[in-house]
Amino acid sequence: MEKGQTKKLAELIKSSSHTVILTGAGMSTESGVPDFRSKEGWWKEIDPRTVASVEALEDNYPLFREFYSTRLKALQTVQPHEGHKIIAKWEKNGLVQCVATQNVDGLHQKAGSIAVKELHGSIRKIRCNQCGNEAAKEQFITGESCNACRGKLRPSVVLFGELLPQIAWQSAFQHIQKADLVIVIGTSLEVYPVSELPAMTNGKTVLINKDPVWTAHHFFLTIEGNAKEVLHAVDELV
Ligand code: OAD
Repeated sequence: MEKGQTKKLAELIKSSSHTVILTGAGMSTESGVPDFRSKEGWWKEIDPRTVASVEALEDNYPLFREFYSTRLKALQTVQPHEGHKIIAKWEKNGLVQCVATQNVDGLHQKAGSIAVKELHGSIRKIRCNQCGNEAAKEQFITGESCNACRGKLRPSVVLFGELLPQIAWQSAFQHIQKADLVIVIGTSLEVYPVSELPAMTNGKTVLINKDPVWTAHHFFLTIEGNAKEVLHAVDELV
């Protein structure tokens, strides 16, 4: 991370009248939540189709439930880090208008962000896959079925093979179209359709990521570094 780059981003933020932040799993790793495609990521160990797909829910429910229960339990003690709090502060101060996230952990909201669009749903909300009835997360973790219809319980996350929540998607899309600055943080941009969002703005695009991303050349500015340290450095200058 070079000083010139953080200064440039701070200037962009100050001069922008509509800024959208788009985050991925790399936003939460410094809170202790693993990402998916890094060396320590979930998908280095497990094939996503076996645990995070419609097929897994239908045909391999015990493994599906074990995977999401493990993640849910791990989230119980997790807290947002300084980077999440800086984003929330920027929103409060009128510097950020929307936080679109692929993360299902709720850490942006926990840090105080309000205008959050959860593009891949939320792991903290449990519902029946059959009738949609809501349930407590303990019921899911202990393997109970739906009180109303005996259907399978599941977290309200987007599985491979499912559509994105349309209200969140439409709202994020509208913000991106209006934006004159989109800051993308901690995502490999490998998953469609969120991967398309940075190309849907006429505004400037900035990428903050620890490792190189293959689409980095499409961005106006790329900053290689950890989300927390980059956001901290930029916050000192806005
Ligand atoms: P990935 O794991 O694909 O990408 C995370 C990116 O964040 C990687 O490029 C890392 O280098 C980077 N990274 C990790 N720690 C970082 C840090 N502290 N600071 C900055 N960058 C960091 O995660 P996503 O792109 O979010 O979907 O994955 C998208 C979707 O794929 C997820 O929502 C999930 C997954 O399958 C579903 O399960 C439907």
